[in-house]
Amino acid sequence: MKKEYSFQFGRFPTRVIIQHELPPLEQIRENLTALGYRFSGYLLVCDEHTEVFARRIAGDAVCVLKSGEEEKTWPSIERILKLAKDRGLGRDGLFIGVGGGVVSDLSAFAASIYMRGARLCVVSTTLLGMADAAVGGKTGFDLFGIKNFAGTFFPARLVYMPLESLNTLPEYEWKSGMAEIIKTAVLDREEKPESPAYTGSFFSACLKLREGSPPGVFPNRLYALNPEGLFECITRSVEFKGRIVEADPEETGGKRALLNLGHTFAHALEASLGLGSVSHGEAVAWGLARSCELGFSIGITSEKQIGEIKEVLALYGYEIRTPHPLLKDIPSFMQALGGDKKKSSGQLSFIVPCETGAVIAKLGAGLPPDYLHIVEKIIENL
Ligand SMILES: NC(=O)c1ccc[n+]([C@@H]2O[C@H](COP(=O)([O-])OP(=O)(O)OC[C@H]3O[C@@H](n4cnc5c(N)ncnc54)[C@H](O)[C@@H]3O)[C@@H](O)[C@H]2O)c1
Repeated sequence: MKKEYSFQFGRFPTRVIIQHELPPLEQIRENLTALGYRFSGYLLVCDEHTEVFARRIAGDAVCVLKSGEEEKTWPSIERILKLAKDRGLGRDGLFIGVGGGVVSDLSAFAASIYMRGARLCVVSTTLLGMADAAVGGKTGFDLFGIKNFAGTFFPARLVYMPLESLNTLPEYEWKSGMAEIIKTAVLDREEKPESPAYTGSFFSACLKLREGSPPGVFPNRLYALNPEGLFECITRSVEFKGRIVEADPEETGGKRALLNLGHTFAHALEASLGLGSVSHGEAVAWGLARSCELGFSIGITSEKQIGEIKEVLALYGYEIRTPHPLLKDIPSFMQALGGDKKKSSGQLSFIVPCETGAVIAKLGAGLPPDYLHIVEKIIENL
């Protein structure tokens, strides 16, 4: 099982390689050379849980960060930059981020500003990283208490997705990543019956992936359970996101915003419950169910589609009831919704599912003037 993609994200080409094994440094070097990039020195960036992978890639030059979103701050960036400097890296130095979305966002940001831009390779080791964070060139860190407040667009030249690394991923992280895959399956309506690697619709691939597991329980160790099925779901996520980002690399009003399906509700849930109360993916799954209901209220999402989406989410064991059992304070949820950073010109926008994938609903373009009442009723389940 191996698949490679070449994308062009604005000025930058990116090669994505999905394979079973972790790439040794020599493989990284060969691939970069084939792409026309040479590097003089390198620095591996990882966290305490992915250090083992970083040391398998190359034993030395490893910057180990503490794990978790709390570490996605400027001091971590400074540490990475300082170690790169101490190792004498020049502009042609290579940063290799080995880990989930936190490590890839941090190492990519550091690479983007190091001497005005060094080389970057990402080795993604979480399902969320593979399905989402590692592809597309968004980098960043949290500042002033706001997630991803500071950042750049700086796509990695090379991205590896070594599936064997998933064997140690905790269940909580599997469930978080799988929600982003299901979200992408809702967006990607393309049938691919002609390709032996694909089994028809992405949505049916998500259903097949968990076959044999009891309904309502998240199937643990999906890679051991169904390696081909997982490979298919990851490759389709990468391919879909890659094509969307190619068309709108810096999210300037094109299709890239569609990738935020379910996220307006998810961010408000995470903010009102407190970050970490539910995983990001669980919030996305819950938000996806709410986007369906909003889409139905405004005449965009069909009852049949809502049924299909909610069925998959429930089979995987996501909490999709509303009000969310942990949400005690609906006014704080509505306030968080109003503060969502994806508001543009003072206006909230929601992505809602439709027959062709999803559409953006904004005031005057799908959303009626009294939409906040509609949203509140959905959240309260009135
Ligand atoms: N740049 C983007 O486009 C983009 C998109 C989506 C999310 N993100 C960012 O990604 C972050 C979330 O990423 P995440 O969910 O991967 O979180 P994460 O990087 O914090 O990883 C989750 C946990 O899993 C551990 N871990 C990683 N790989 C492991 C492995 N193979 N085995 C065992 N443990 C492992 C990590 O140490 C961490 O404790 C957020 O900060 C989010 O903002 C970025």
